This record gives sequence, C-alpha cells and structure tokens, in this order.
Amino acid sequence: MSKEKQSGKEKQDISRRQFLSYSIMGVGGFMAAATVMPMLRMAIDPVLKAEASGDFIATNVKVDEITTEPQRVDFNFEQKDGWYESTVTQTAWVYKDENGEIVALSPICKHLGCTVSWNSSDNYPDKFYCPCHKGVYDKDGTNVPGTPPRGPLDRYQYQINDGVLYLSRRASEVGGE
Ligand code: FES
Repeated sequence: MSKEKQSGKEKQDISRRQFLSYSIMGVGGFMAAATVMPMLRMAIDPVLKAEASGDFIATNVKVDEITTEPQRVDFNFEQKDGWYESTVTQTAWVYKDENGEIVALSPICKHLGCTVSWNSSDNYPDKFYCPCHKGVYDKDGTNVPGTPPRGPLDRYQYQINDGVLYLSRRASEVGGE
C-alpha cells in the first residue's frame, strides 16, 4: 500500500472513530437529560406552584350585579400536575355584606366535605345547609353550634378588574373551633 493510500485510510478511521464517539456522547447526553429533567422539574415544581397559587381567575360575574343574596358562581381554570393537565371547576357562594364588601364562600362542608347550598332547607331559611348530616352555617359562613361542622366555611380571596369579579384558585380557612 502506498503512503498516500495509508494516510487516507487513517483519516477515514479517525473520522469513523470520531463519529462513533460523538454518537455515544449524543445518546449518553440524551439519556442523562431524560433522567435528570424530571427530577429537576419535581424539585422546581413547588416553586412554580407557589407562584401560580397567587393567580386570580376571572368569573362571569360583574361586580355591579352582585347583591346581598348569595349566588352560586362556577369558574374554571387549567391545572398542570406534573405532566397531567386538567380543567378544574370551582364553585363559590358570592354576595355583598351589609358594608358592601364581597364575600365568596366555599361550598365544601367542613364536616365531611359534602356540598352546602344557600337557602335550600325549609327548616333553615337564609342559612347554608348541608344535606349529608344536617350541617348548618350562617350567611357569613360561620358554623351553627349544635350541628356537625366544626368550623366556618373557607373563603376565596377576590379581586376586581374592569368591573369583573376574579377569585383565587382555592378557598382558604378563616379559623375554626
Ligand atoms: S358533611 Fe356536611 S354535615 Fe356532614
């Protein structure tokens, strides 16, 4: 074999070797990324969630239309849980108190989690009533003593933007027994 042919073959070998090592590095890098990224995401996710929890969701209610009579308000938002995306529907009972302040109560009973509704029992007019175990709450969400619930209904935070009511994604506790 001539010297020129030999050096051509060496060049070919080197480029094959380089190709192989680049391929291995590429596959290895991809596998490392596939392993590390989910772990990284899980580590960062609580931070992202904390930021998202400050979000307020637009309802279809104009603030001018809110009266002193509690009205049921449903609102939706998209939620990402890891890789899983879903639409969450929340419900609030919304009204204005005697000072004109907006009150937005969760309908989740503080006894065992059934759904309360306003003025739905003839025995308890102008109260929130839970049919599961006859739980009763006053209009401001305070649990009526002697009925099963041990704390007041949770409250949503609210904002007003362009005359529209926005509610927090989750209601939060206002205290209890
Ligand atoms: S779940 Fe509401 S009273 Fe029991």
